[in-house]
Amino acid sequence: MAELFRLDGRTVLVTGAGQGVGRQVALTCAAQGAAVAVNDYYRDRAESVAEEIRAAGGRALGLGGDVTDFDGVTRLVDTVAQDLGPIDILVNNAGNAGPAQDPMRPAPPFWETGPKEWEPWLGTNLYGVLNTTRATVPGMVERGYGRVVTVISDAGRVGEPHLVVYSGAKAGAAGFTRGLAKAVGRHGITANCVSLGPVRTPGVATATEDADQVKAMLRNYVVRRLGEPADPANLILFLASGEASWITGQTYPVNGGYSFAV
Ligand SMILES: NC(=O)c1ccc[n+]([C@@H]2O[C@H](COP(=O)([O-])OP(=O)(O)OC[C@H]3O[C@@H](n4cnc5c(N)ncnc54)[C@H](O)[C@@H]3O)[C@@H](O)[C@H]2O)c1
Repeated sequence: MAELFRLDGRTVLVTGAGQGVGRQVALTCAAQGAAVAVNDYYRDRAESVAEEIRAAGGRALGLGGDVTDFDGVTRLVDTVAQDLGPIDILVNNAGNAGPAQDPMRPAPPFWETGPKEWEPWLGTNLYGVLNTTRATVPGMVERGYGRVVTVISDAGRVGEPHLVVYSGAKAGAAGFTRGLAKAVGRHGITANCVSLGPVRTPGVATATEDADQVKAMLRNYVVRRLGEPADPANLILFLASGEASWITGQTYPVNGGYSFAV
């Protein structure tokens, strides 16, 4: 039997891939033969993951860039097309509280906050997804093939009291994905979301490195361990592959059983 989930000849853009889940997605796609554009707000992080891929014999390009900057994203997509080839697979991974904040820091209640506080959450988790999708989908339509996989959070499916705007932004990205899936399906493009529970990454280290907090958190999880970046990366690889061509518009939880999809 032929090997499954190979991405030979495909070009992938992974946003926010300088660490955490995105880094693992980039490494996994590269290991399956894809050329990988590694984006991160912090250029040095992006370069370092790209270098890791090249050192293992893969093709990769590290690109600094902020997904909330529409013109910047458009330029970035053009650079990828020139240097690696047109983008077949987009993984919208950049998220959390945006590049400059700790998403796990104690936050005031929503009703004490305003647009200035909401902006980083909405910017990266919702507008960033729109920007990169807008910039990459025309090429996919032209070529009659594409995969868009967006990383959301269970906060967006079931709501989190301390992450109210984040919950809304991630739910917005999932709703956007459902509409997009219907709009692009006839062009050979699928669009899906992967919804995460707590995964051990640098971005959420404040919560996942505190033993008492982890113990309390895991009481709500059927599988009593934190997620590792490979847990979502493996599903993202499947959804990004040719084998997943009849799956679109869906949101798949990868969450240790915190919530179930029906
Ligand atoms: N780790 C978790 O527990 C968890 C849980 C639910 C959902 N998620 C989601 O998974 C995704 C990855 O999370 P993670 O924990 O690996 O993140 P992380 O914070 O460890 O890494 C994210 C990377 O994205 C980059 N980034 C942030 N904003 C950006 C922007 N505007 N433009 C470009 N790059 C940007 C950061 O510089 C960082 O290197 C995010 O969408 C997050 O919301 C994570």
